[in-house]
Amino acid sequence: MRILLTGATGFIGSAFLRLASGRGHEVVALLRPGRLAASLPPAGHRRWLIGSLAEPPWDEIKRVEPDTCVHAAWITTPGVYLQSPENHHFAKWSEDFICRACECGVRRVVALGTCIEYQMESRPLREDETPLAPMTTYARCKNALREVLTEAAKRGGFSLAWCRIFYPYGIGEHPQRLCSVMVQELARGETVVLKTPHSTKDFIHIDDLAAALLTVTQSNASGAINLGTGKGTTVRHLAQTIAGLMGREKLVVEADSCAPDPLSFVVADASKLLALGWRPQIELQDGLARLIRHLTQ
Ligand SMILES: NC(=O)c1ccc[n+]([C@@H]2O[C@H](COP(=O)([O-])OP(=O)(O)OC[C@H]3O[C@@H](n4cnc5c(N)ncnc54)[C@H](OP(=O)(O)O)[C@@H]3O)[C@@H](O)[C@H]2O)c1
Repeated sequence: MRILLTGATGFIGSAFLRLASGRGHEVVALLRPGRLAASLPPAGHRRWLIGSLAEPPWDEIKRVEPDTCVHAAWITTPGVYLQSPENHHFAKWSEDFICRACECGVRRVVALGTCIEYQMESRPLREDETPLAPMTTYARCKNALREVLTEAAKRGGFSLAWCRIFYPYGIGEHPQRLCSVMVQELARGETVVLKTPHSTKDFIHIDDLAAALLTVTQSNASGAINLGTGKGTTVRHLAQTIAGLMGREKLVVEADSCAPDPLSFVVADASKLLALGWRPQIELQDGLARLIRHLTQ
């Protein structure tokens, strides 16, 4: 495949870029002006085109003749992204970018959505069954983009897979993400106070997520597809596992009263992804051990 990739400097996009180019796919990735691609210099099957979602380098993209577009770029700044008005810009830029890419010959589009497009339930979330109820600007804009692209795909004759990402973790994640925060606090000898110990999430190692994304990209699956493992882990178990690996079990305590948690059970029904042949390879304990080594050495 010749893949046009956005968000390639990010947590998920860079893992996908490494995997897809390593497997022999030609990947041309968008790089914003002034940004560095130092950790992934151009090599072999990958190269960078300078531009942004708002100002893509169309002449160069046309010359490359991509057949596939994987769209990962979005605003994700912790503490900001959920309600930022910037989400509306990203939805519009994404629609324009993908539709224009399809006019340039792209026939397969894989775009990244989010598990919080769903209405939360106390059972695994299923693509074609669980109602949608996006509560944040971020999730609403993602869902609006999915709707508009679904219509565009019907008109434009391209196939669209909409990947709902669950909770990726691992090396390269933002330092304010849950696992990294816990590791850093424990490494400093600080107490980790759990406000929502029962909160249950579907954590997926970043390398497993990249492999899932490549599996979907290579398939002809269309519509929404959950990218999660199907396995829920409580925040308590996560914290105890990290603390156990670091020999700091006594530093994990639970708050006297639990905080309200609108996302108390967010676990994928992964049947659709599993049916494509993908299997998770990295156990939580192993993935966390790698992250701890990376952050503490
Ligand atoms: N990580 C998660 O837990 C999670 C969960 C659900 C869904 N997702 C979705 O997965 C996708 C990737 O997330 P991530 O965690 O990898 O995010 P990330 O690490 O913050 O990466 C975001 C990427 O988007 C690029 N970008 C931002 N604004 C851009 C613009 N105007 N034009 C072109 N590129 C731009 C960034 O480039 P720069 O390096 O130039 O800033 C970066 O490469 C997003 O669509 C996100 O909504 C992530």
